[in-house]
Amino acid sequence: MQSDRKAVRENWGSRLGFVLAAAGSAIGLGNVWRFPYVLGENGGFAFLLVYLCCVVLIGLPIMGAEMVIGRGSRRNPFGAFKALLPGSAWWLVGAIGIVTGVIILSYYNVVAGWTLAYLFRSLTGLVSGFTGPDSAELAYESFVSDSAQVVIYLFLFAVLGILVVAQGVKGGIERWAKILMPTLFLLLLLLIGRSLTLEGSGDGLAFLFAPDFSKINGDVILMAMGQAFYSLSLGMGVMITYGSYLDNRTNIFSSAGTVAGLDALIAVLAGVAIFPAVFAMGMEPSSGFGLTYQVLPMVFAKLPLSDVLSSLFFLLLTIAALTSAISLLEVMVSFATDELHWTRARATIIMAAFAFVVGVPSALSFGVWSDVTVFGLGFFGVADYITANVLLPLGGIGIAVFAGWAWGRGVKQEILLGSNQETLYYVWLWSVRILAPIAVALILIFNFV
Ligand code: PHE
Repeated sequence: MQSDRKAVRENWGSRLGFVLAAAGSAIGLGNVWRFPYVLGENGGFAFLLVYLCCVVLIGLPIMGAEMVIGRGSRRNPFGAFKALLPGSAWWLVGAIGIVTGVIILSYYNVVAGWTLAYLFRSLTGLVSGFTGPDSAELAYESFVSDSAQVVIYLFLFAVLGILVVAQGVKGGIERWAKILMPTLFLLLLLLIGRSLTLEGSGDGLAFLFAPDFSKINGDVILMAMGQAFYSLSLGMGVMITYGSYLDNRTNIFSSAGTVAGLDALIAVLAGVAIFPAVFAMGMEPSSGFGLTYQVLPMVFAKLPLSDVLSSLFFLLLTIAALTSAISLLEVMVSFATDELHWTRARATIIMAAFAFVVGVPSALSFGVWSDVTVFGLGFFGVADYITANVLLPLGGIGIAVFAGWAWGRGVKQEILLGSNQETLYYVWLWSVRILAPIAVALILIFNFV
């Protein structure tokens, strides 16, 4: 029975497909609207060095741990821990991860829905109608508080996710990653071309990269670590799930390295696409919603072909969000197909519907429910805060400690399948045993003091 189940579990069609799907998960909203600003504000090139150290020393080892847990068990995050250490309580790490995924997907879909709306609206002339920064602000505020519209777009985006995931790992996720990721890269290059040929774009590059080592302090290092973690989609089992469809010939070290490298590259390039244009048009740099839905539309409005540029940008952002949302949905779907024995179609529709319903309060928290707050945060804010600052780091510690200490000898053999790089294994082991758990625990603790 056991081996039958193993035999029918889907596999990726190619290593490239797997790497693109995993990179698609990692490359998301975080790369575009957060990383570039954080880079510019916290020491430029100096921050980049710190960030890359965090990726290599902590992010990569945890990503490797997730992939090896997935491949070693060929299960969803919940089933994986149960299969590797039967009778222990480690399944809790997987279960918490899946719940975390539901919460992230619920609010991620909301902003993704806005992005989709801005794509449609750009295509129909939103941006060329702007007369000044006030109109960009007004357009944003009236849109996000229009609950009916926001929920409709949330729904539409959820349907996009269903359409991809229902087609399966190879025929859906992998096939679409192979189409969407190169498209995203091309769009980014186009926007970079536009941005860098504007007069005054050098100021934007200076903002992004001018090294200022005096800005590096404990807080900045913790911020870099937190950003690396979220950006690499770690701590809730995406990489466990994607790893569970891997075959034994795939080199986990080099796959994780490629995924992390692509993620960092796109984050830096997003900055090169955005800030030179922002500075050239005399706008103030910022991040998050303000940057994406107000500053950038206004930057586009000042340029020729404004609606085209804006459409290209929001298409890029929609793609980035979609490939991340798909990975979150797949975690839930793999749980339902493995553990509840649902068909993929059924699992996809029910799980996506569930995430949609959980997302509605977040969608409404910018409109009719804006008065409902906890510690000054609305539903959206709470969901974002708890997952990024508490649940993902906790999950990351659990995963690292499991792979480094609890799993035992089996992990060495499993991770060396397809690679045989024993030295790398010892470096990896040192990180997941000591460095990563301590570093991530620090993120957790310092977020609260
Ligand atoms: N990595 C994604 C981003 O940068 C967010 C994400 C986190 C996706 C955790 C899946 C899991 O936007």
